[in-house]
Amino acid sequence: MTDPRNTALSYAHQNSQAFLDYLKSLVQIPSVSTSSDHAKAMKDTAENLANRLRGLGFSNVALHPTVGHPVVFGEYIVNQPGHKTVLIYGHYDVQPAEPLDLWKTPPFEPTQINENLFGRGASDMKGQVAASLAAVEAVLQAGEPPVNIKFMIEGEEEIGSPNLSQFLRANAPMLAADVVLNPDSGMLAADFPTLTYALRGLAYFELRVYGPEHDLHSGLFGGVVHNPAQALIELIAGMHDTDGRILLPGYYDSVREMSAEERADIARLPMTEDFYKTQTGAPQLWGEKGFTPAECIGGRPTLEVNGILSGFTGHGSKTVIPSWAMAKISMRLVPDQDPEEVHRQLIQYLEQKAPATIRWELIKMAGGPASFTDPNHPAALAMSQAMETIWGMRPVFKREGGSIPIVAEMQEILGIESVLTGFGLPEDNVHAPNEKLHLPTWYRGIDALIHFFYNYGI
Ligand code: BES
Ligand code: MN
Repeated sequence: MTDPRNTALSYAHQNSQAFLDYLKSLVQIPSVSTSSDHAKAMKDTAENLANRLRGLGFSNVALHPTVGHPVVFGEYIVNQPGHKTVLIYGHYDVQPAEPLDLWKTPPFEPTQINENLFGRGASDMKGQVAASLAAVEAVLQAGEPPVNIKFMIEGEEEIGSPNLSQFLRANAPMLAADVVLNPDSGMLAADFPTLTYALRGLAYFELRVYGPEHDLHSGLFGGVVHNPAQALIELIAGMHDTDGRILLPGYYDSVREMSAEERADIARLPMTEDFYKTQTGAPQLWGEKGFTPAECIGGRPTLEVNGILSGFTGHGSKTVIPSWAMAKISMRLVPDQDPEEVHRQLIQYLEQKAPATIRWELIKMAGGPASFTDPNHPAALAMSQAMETIWGMRPVFKREGGSIPIVAEMQEILGIESVLTGFGLPEDNVHAPNEKLHLPTWYRGIDALIHFFYNYGI
């Protein structure tokens, strides 16, 4: 009898074009979770995924409503004692495509150019969801699957998964699993299979500064009121010292330091200064003094201005003092920082530093703590083995700088560990114009996932 693993692999190879066509159908729908303008696209994407699961023979397929966007769930359960259950996590929402004028191809018209598929979400993470669906399709087509499979695909990851912890609490029995397969991370390079074992957390805020009641003529009033744009910038400038350290009171108190051993491991990763210079195109690197770029990304917290808005920014000139200014400020957190504590630290900083010449308001947005996963979990080893089979080398284990709130929530609320992987590359322009997916790596990823199911299940 043919080995079902080989049957599944050859099915995948024969259906590579159909897999790609399905991915394109997903990328075509502008499922941007952050603005209500895209509510219909969100629902369409969720329904598209639910139909796909039904087509694969999944049961209990449904769109579970939340206060925000629905969660797609479905399961394929084999009544075999001892069968393990893999819960595959995904998100169907994407980041806004703006600024549109910087895209070389329209963001929601998936376009293949040589080895890459361009489009918003192609890499983060419709490509990863489609790869998981493709691998599952191939496995199911080869007979009874070696594991029970559940899919849970949310629509709010890119806005910090604000309603997901409630969903996990309300649906614990339905979500029961031995492990979560989370392909929302990525690879270091096309020839470097990668498993992620740590993620940073996130605390996100909008800071508003109000000055005069309305905009003012800068000649008639300039020099007698504190310009709110200037006041905001002064506050922001005071948040770092010249060594790149963050000056919120107590910010580093609960930061878990990296061990000497871990720093030695990180030093072996191919994430050199040159790697970051090439990836970013910045004239020079910048960061917390005393740490390498790879350490800064994986193991150190940050504070970033994500956007800033005030006054006249149109063509030409206008002599005006704006009445308000606003900045979006976020912090990447490491273990054991608590997002609530960081919120209080930011309030304390503002209370101490904000001048009496302005009023300020701080709005807290969703986020979550950092997470660590067990690199020796049997499912992580099954994935490592699968990647080695496909790429011919053992994957590198790394800490990732991005955030995926569900990983810590799965551990805390349901006690389920995650295996973090993914087949996107650092140069995929995720969250930026011209997002793309490297298709040869994506196809290898599908094969690796097929191996993973058999390695873990048998
Ligand atoms: N897939 C990313 C996170 C990621 C990127 C992990 C690259 C590993 C490698 C995810 O979709 C994402 O961007 N998350 C947001 C979460 C936030 C809004 C809470 C992030 O990190 O900014
Ligand atoms: Mn993602």
